[in-house]
Amino acid sequence: MWDPQTYLTYADERTRPARDLLAAVDLADPERVVDLGCGTGTSTRLLAARWPGADVLGTDSSSEMIEAARAEQDGIRYEVVGAAEWQPEGPVDLWFSNAMLQWLPGHLDLLPRWLGTLSRTGRLAFQVPANFDAPHHVLLREFCAAPAWRDRLHGISERHEAIHTPVGYADALAAAGARPDVWETTYLHRLEGPDPVLTWTMGTALRPVLNKLDGAEREAFLAEYGEAVRAAYPVGRDGVTTFPFRRIFAVGAPA
Ligand SMILES: C[S@@+](CC[C@H](N)C(=O)[O-])C[C@H]1O[C@@H](n2cnc3c(N)ncnc32)[C@H](O)[C@@H]1O
Repeated sequence: MWDPQTYLTYADERTRPARDLLAAVDLADPERVVDLGCGTGTSTRLLAARWPGADVLGTDSSSEMIEAARAEQDGIRYEVVGAAEWQPEGPVDLWFSNAMLQWLPGHLDLLPRWLGTLSRTGRLAFQVPANFDAPHHVLLREFCAAPAWRDRLHGISERHEAIHTPVGYADALAAAGARPDVWETTYLHRLEGPDPVLTWTMGTALRPVLNKLDGAEREAFLAEYGEAVRAAYPVGRDGVTTFPFRRIFAVGAPA
């Protein structure tokens, strides 16, 4: 379902939030670090670079993504396993998750379990995209519900229901016994080239939609949706398309 190559388009812009999240993790010398939803290992390699002595494990439910991560031969261990299923054998010093929890409905219920396996000085750190009311997402939901597509696509792009508010995350962490540090940021990505927002979306939100369509339908959908996205994100005079992207960050520490 995931296409590592497409996901890696705009890799710098996609990696920035992982760097910003990591910068807020005040751990000097963690022994055991787990990256949930590690994808192609971009976020995992940031963790390994910051703490070269740590035992770092990248986990992801997609075998395609793990295959791409392993192909980097970066010396990091990677495992194909869902975030809700993976269980550590001992205490974890850092649970890290960049841009994955939006794919996991009910993830607030998992926070107590992850916090419960933290070492005394450990941290749980995650970042989720919070731009599901942005024009390209609204358009995607509208297209999927439109008469021409709804028999195949109805309900496919409802991921926004999995995301909570910043207060929701802070309350959930506090209720699970952690000290929460939660904030949000809107990045203003300046993207070059033709149809950059469509290209970005093909790496993430469009994947489940395109997977439901065969070749000709896929082309038709992309043409129609692409035109609407182009109108919603016009190219500026300098040839650059501004793409605002809101994200929520959270770090939980044992209280
Ligand atoms: C947007 S990518 C982020 C990848 C990586 N963390 C990064 O920062 O580059 C989201 C990843 O979450 C993975 N994913 C989605 N649902 C998952 C689940 N339930 N358990 C583990 N991984 C999941 C996808 O396979 C994908 O690789």
